Amino acid sequence: MHSYSLIAPAKINLYLEIIGDRPDGYHELAMILQSIGLADYIDVHSISNDTIRVHSNHPQVPTDNSNLAYKAAELMTRQFPEAFAKYGGVEISINKQIPVAAGLAGGSTNAAAVLVGIDLLWKLGLTQSELEELGATLGSDVPFCVSGGTAIATGRGEQLSPLPSLDKIYIVLAKYRSLEVSTPWAYKTYRQEFGNSYIRDTNDLAARASAVHSGEIVKAIALADAGKIAQKLHNDLERVVLPAYPQVLQLREIFANQEGVLGTMMSGSGPTVFALFESEQQAEQVKLHVREAISDEDLELFVTRTITHGIQVASSI
Ligand code: C5P
Repeated sequence: MHSYSLIAPAKINLYLEIIGDRPDGYHELAMILQSIGLADYIDVHSISNDTIRVHSNHPQVPTDNSNLAYKAAELMTRQFPEAFAKYGGVEISINKQIPVAAGLAGGSTNAAAVLVGIDLLWKLGLTQSELEELGATLGSDVPFCVSGGTAIATGRGEQLSPLPSLDKIYIVLAKYRSLEVSTPWAYKTYRQEFGNSYIRDTNDLAARASAVHSGEIVKAIALADAGKIAQKLHNDLERVVLPAYPQVLQLREIFANQEGVLGTMMSGSGPTVFALFESEQQAEQVKLHVREAISDEDLELFVTRTITHGIQVASSI
């Protein structure tokens, strides 16, 4: 095989708690991550010369080494120089459907797909945990994107504990096309405003991180109770993003007042806001109502649902 087509799903955060600082400048987190049906489509081909090439259908996606997918390919060439010499370079085509800089891990899932694709192209036989370990060097969300489904993520976000799968909870995503929130800005601002309440003691940090395992939302996930899950949604970063971005706050308020919405929250560092539903029909209806309430062409709305997997191979040649 010299070409693989991969499906690279987006994620939402059902839960994001900032527990404290880390010596590496990142934050100690307790999150619950959930893969969703909205996905990018990534083709990975072997090419005869020893270069990395990235193409995309989206003008905002860079094709140089500032693209996380490019960085993933570079990492593989460094880690596996013999396979690189044997199989040659890699061409990566990104068919982008996931909004960029949206809090949906679009870049991270593309990088995860490139790791999986090159592992297959070069017949490396890497295990899921080896792929996740490589992914962690690229970004905090990349390991989750490899395996996907529903998982608790602690540490920087790279330490994963799988949770029972959540299938078919329906979701509406809302994102203003031209609105982007910088993730470093969101965490930095949170530290400035709420850093005083960070847990400093290492034992207390570990205890707080492990407490998420027995939290109410995890119990609700075990019962696959969409209504209870929706009541326990949480995202600490809303505390800095909502006041700074009135459009995001407005979306949260509009969703909260719609019939059929089980719960609503911002995903990651935003600006995407999501709402959860029992049925696809309710989700479609609320999408229409929000479109009527906000006639701004800049607002993108998607109906999708929870899924139980991360990167998947769609076909190979
Ligand atoms: O790991 P990633 O590159 O996706 O993180 C983007 C930014 O988000 C980091 O540069 C950092 O500012 C912030 N971050 C953090 N703590 C985490 C994860 C991300 O402060 N656990």
